[in-house]
Amino acid sequence: MRSHYCGQLNETLVDQTVTVCGWVHRRRDHGGVIFLDMRDRDGIAQFVVDPDTAEAFANADRARSEFVLRITGRVRLRPEGTQNPNMPTGMIEILAKEVEVLNTAVTPPFQLDEHGKVGEEVRLKHRYIDLRRPDMIEKLRLRSRISHTVRAYLENQGFLDIETPVLTRATPEGARDYLVPSRTHAGSFFALPQSPQLFKQLLMVAGFDRYYQIAKCFRDEDLRADRQPEFTQIDIEASFVEESDIMGITEAMIRQLFQEVLKVELPEFPRMTWQEAMDRFGSDKPDLRIPLELTDVDDLMQQVDFKVFSGPASADDGRVAALKVPGGAKLSRKEIDEYTKFVGIYGAKGLAWIKVNERAKGLEGLQSPIVKFMENIVEELLDRVGAEDGDIIFFGADKARIVNEAIGALRVKLGADLELYTQEWAPLWVVDFPMFEADDNGRLSPLHHPFTAPSCTPEELKADPASALSRAYDMVLNGTELGGGSIRIHDQTMQSTVFEILGIGEEEAQEKFGFLLDALQYGAPPHGGLAFGLDRLVMLMVGAKTIREVIAFRKPKALPV
Ligand code: AMO
Ligand code: AMP
Repeated sequence: MRSHYCGQLNETLVDQTVTVCGWVHRRRDHGGVIFLDMRDRDGIAQFVVDPDTAEAFANADRARSEFVLRITGRVRLRPEGTQNPNMPTGMIEILAKEVEVLNTAVTPPFQLDEHGKVGEEVRLKHRYIDLRRPDMIEKLRLRSRISHTVRAYLENQGFLDIETPVLTRATPEGARDYLVPSRTHAGSFFALPQSPQLFKQLLMVAGFDRYYQIAKCFRDEDLRADRQPEFTQIDIEASFVEESDIMGITEAMIRQLFQEVLKVELPEFPRMTWQEAMDRFGSDKPDLRIPLELTDVDDLMQQVDFKVFSGPASADDGRVAALKVPGGAKLSRKEIDEYTKFVGIYGAKGLAWIKVNERAKGLEGLQSPIVKFMENIVEELLDRVGAEDGDIIFFGADKARIVNEAIGALRVKLGADLELYTQEWAPLWVVDFPMFEADDNGRLSPLHHPFTAPSCTPEELKADPASALSRAYDMVLNGTELGGGSIRIHDQTMQSTVFEILGIGEEEAQEKFGFLLDALQYGAPPHGGLAFGLDRLVMLMVGAKTIREVIAFRKPKALPV
């Protein structure tokens, strides 16, 4: 029906006759001449219809916003003074000869360029109109380019794209399953996969050697900016590999993706142990664009006469951490109160602080609600954090988990609020995760999933599971966990040991993962892999704030059966 997309029209086509199909973006009547801005997924171009072409003029005259038209006309340079160098099609216009109304449209619920005036609900209800916005089209176009580039890279590296079932059994990724009732076995349910984890391991046992899939995953969890119940993974698995192989292949993939799609050369991906990440940043996905670090002050705070601090400083599971913010002494009382409220979300019971107005003046030069309790150690404290005039130092004291979460999140918030970023992209690998994490009752659960290999023998694992490390790795970009994976257990004794430690009995293990346990007996090769969250990757690459912006359609409300 057409010869060109609107966005492709430019001065190289002057004097040629073209046909486009698209939507009326705007219609203007200029004293007998009608201007139509026509829009399609490629852009917007200006058409001129004059009364000499009577039929075309009549059709243009009845066209309204979002009517669907087919127009044929001749490309010509715009008259001097009416050119718009900011638009790709801004140097030309098309003198219409034929205008055909392919379809009419009722008045849209919002003008595309005024979408900000209506709420998200209205835009989501009419998502097909919202998706006509160039900004939305651009995001989904980039998403398509990203998956295409990823596929091309993996195919080149010898990975085979193999699909795995969606109606399946539970996968242990730590979230709740979505269940689908079986019609033929009343009372029985399928589960939708939280990931293709079990299947990709079976494919390795089968000998496929290198597998990938852009796979839909389903997790019944609460919505967050970087989380959706239905999302997409770039799922990867390979045999006869070690950590460095998977990390090497996937790091090169992300690097190439950024070069090809964004023309960005990513910096080195440093490797950091989980412990170091927690100690220095209070997070297992540190945002390294922000030049702030937590400093341990347990030893000093054990010596102060302030129970709120000396208690956690002396407790085994406690932590007192300081966060120095250069230039932060200018924060107002109100702002500090806001930050105190903010850390409260993470369970912190308060947020102590010291403003360093003039260090040379000693105690006089400090301003703080707590310094009176710690005059004996304050100089050493200031030295340790490297305090200078104009700084503020925040403190968190509690169970280590709470301090890390609260002060870790405060660090990220301050980085954004005070615009402290030192670089645009800060990737890294986090490695040497603990194998298990304990809940408040001491019950262990896997930090990744129970098929992750520990970096010790089954005997060592049994002797001290709480301090065992795993062969897992996460790729983090700008404070977001982009992907995670591990070398897997390929030995049945090790797999049984892990289930035993997790309190999963033989019967339960057999029922839930019997097919994997069986497979491990039939010549399972050493193997490992990783999965990226495609939605998160696209979100970061297009600069969106939430995953919702890079998904065409969201999950609808569920209906009663
Ligand atoms: P994991 O559970 O870490 O690992 O998931 C891998 C990546 O998927 C993304 N992701 C999500 N994205 C959007 N919404 C969600 N609800 C969501 N949950 C996870 C994240 C995450 O890094 N089978 C293992 C991978 C492996 O070991 O190979 C797995 O699923 O970016
Ligand atoms: P208070 O003695 O409760 O008035 O607290 C003195 C200061 O310590 C206030 O600035 C509190 O916000 C702060 N504070 C109280 N509890 C904690 C805590 N667990 N961690 C960090 N600061 C705290």
